[in-house]
Amino acid sequence: MTPVRLAVLVSGAGTNLQTLLDALADSRVARVARVVSSHAAAGALERARRAGVPATVLADPSDPAHVIASLGDAGLVVLAGYLKRVPPAAVARFRLRMINIHPALLPAFGGPGMYGRRVHERVLASGAAISGATVHYVDEEYDRGPIIAQWPVPVRPGDTAETLAARVLGVEHRLLPLVVVELARRGVPPVPVQLFPDGSAFAAQNELSVRLLDA
Ligand code: GRF
Repeated sequence: MTPVRLAVLVSGAGTNLQTLLDALADSRVARVARVVSSHAAAGALERARRAGVPATVLADPSDPAHVIASLGDAGLVVLAGYLKRVPPAAVARFRLRMINIHPALLPAFGGPGMYGRRVHERVLASGAAISGATVHYVDEEYDRGPIIAQWPVPVRPGDTAETLAARVLGVEHRLLPLVVVELARRGVPPVPVQLFPDGSAFAAQNELSVRLLDA
């Protein structure tokens, strides 16, 4: 099978991009074919350059034709730390072939303005004992599309937004490649995929992630 060509949308440091570049370096299932940034100063662009992956900067992230053209022949579009709303025509063009990773257990703690440290401040303020990462399909609204996979992360006493963010980011870096490979292996089907639907894998992941985090 020819590897699924990924277009990765970025805005910032690119740690999620890096985790995909590393995880897919020798993969026959998927590979990062292009990086598209909403910001010219994104650290992610340097990561793309180092990996020899073509990268472009969007002149206008709100222009659907421009966004669609920049994504080219991608078989799967991955929003990795991307902070702009995807224009509806671009969402339609990549329906069920565009995914996002969010640093909380959606549908809670998502939506407009919910990114970065603000997400973790809200989780801490809520008194929630558990947070986590979510990978979901992108639709016309921020953080609302069907959920593909979630991975829980314990909130610890004394956590700050920074310590919780770091713990969640570490789990994002495991979850995103896992979901991308699984979707690619299934040929990015035109129907919503749900991973760990029976909860057992989720529980196992939970126990695993808690055990790992206790390590
Ligand atoms: C983090 O806030 C992460 O939770 C979210 O995007 C940011 C990571 O950005 N998914 P990057 O991948 O390091 O640029």
